[in-house]
Amino acid sequence: MTVKERLAAQAAEVEAYLRAGFGGFLRETGVPGGLLAAMEYSLLAGGKRLRPCLCLTFAALHGASPESVMPFAAGFEIIHTYSLIHDDLPAMDDDDLRRGRPSNHKVHGEAAAILAGDGLLTEAFGCMGRAWPAIPAERVLAALAEAVGAAGAAGMVGGQVLDMEYTARAGVTLAELAGMQALKTGALLTASCVCGAILAGADGDGLARARDYGAAVGAAFQIVDDILDEIGDAASLGKPVGSDREQGKNTYPSLVGLDESRRLAEARVEAALAAIAVYQGPAADFLRELARYIVVRAQ
Ligand code: IPE
Ligand code: IPE
Ligand code: MG
Ligand code: MG
Ligand code: MG
Repeated sequence: MTVKERLAAQAAEVEAYLRAGFGGFLRETGVPGGLLAAMEYSLLAGGKRLRPCLCLTFAALHGASPESVMPFAAGFEIIHTYSLIHDDLPAMDDDDLRRGRPSNHKVHGEAAAILAGDGLLTEAFGCMGRAWPAIPAERVLAALAEAVGAAGAAGMVGGQVLDMEYTARAGVTLAELAGMQALKTGALLTASCVCGAILAGADGDGLARARDYGAAVGAAFQIVDDILDEIGDAASLGKPVGSDREQGKNTYPSLVGLDESRRLAEARVEAALAAIAVYQGPAADFLRELARYIVVRAQ
């Protein structure tokens, strides 16, 4: 199986949980129909499902079963989906295409899109909590604290604020750009890795390696996202191309050009591979393949 096929196979398992497990819970709790439709419009629209895949694979690396970790892993995809809905809003990136469909607000309206995001973000933590009792409560609580920090004001939300502040600003440095991207994209990808390890009961060294791998993969991932916004294909990406330039975003290509951006992304992949070099076996090999895939992907 190629890495893309393996990722797709794991994405299908995540998708099944989001549809039946998470969706079933929302239906039982009586979420208003219009809100549920807006939430599922974006959640069940495809997507690579990279964050849950990283969480499940780090858990597997340390010996936990996919079934026990799935509610927590799926929670990362739910948080990520909320962030995409809000990221596309007119007040933010003002993008009309996402995951190959019109953006949430284009179909459901801005108020519904904001509230669908709010609903997804809040319910994500409830979903994560349902990893207990299959996983001991202390591990679930430690992983929840990690996920909250990554998604929150000093994590992804803070990074999105810096992204907006830097837009159309001259003189943003490479260090500032890297710091902003580490928050807006790196934090959630890192937490996906670290939480998989926490839930499986990894020790301090295991957690540190997961953190280093996640940070490096997260940096490479956003550099490539910036590159694809310049030279990608909207049909394969399922989102617009040229949006960053149109808005005057500070990105890797805008600061250092495409070739240097590619070189920096590859250097981060090497750092990710070094972080997990001590591990052997199928889960470790998949993590290595995923890190390499991130810089060659076209979607
Ligand atoms: C896009 O994330 C937003 C970023 C953080 C760069 P993905 O490229 O993982 O989007 P999906 O989930 O596959 O749609
Ligand atoms: C988004 O970065 C990061 C998020 C937290 C959603 P981008 O704004 O570059 O993501 P895309 O390109 O719209 O997917
Ligand atoms: Mg954005
Ligand atoms: Mg965007
Ligand atoms: Mg982008």
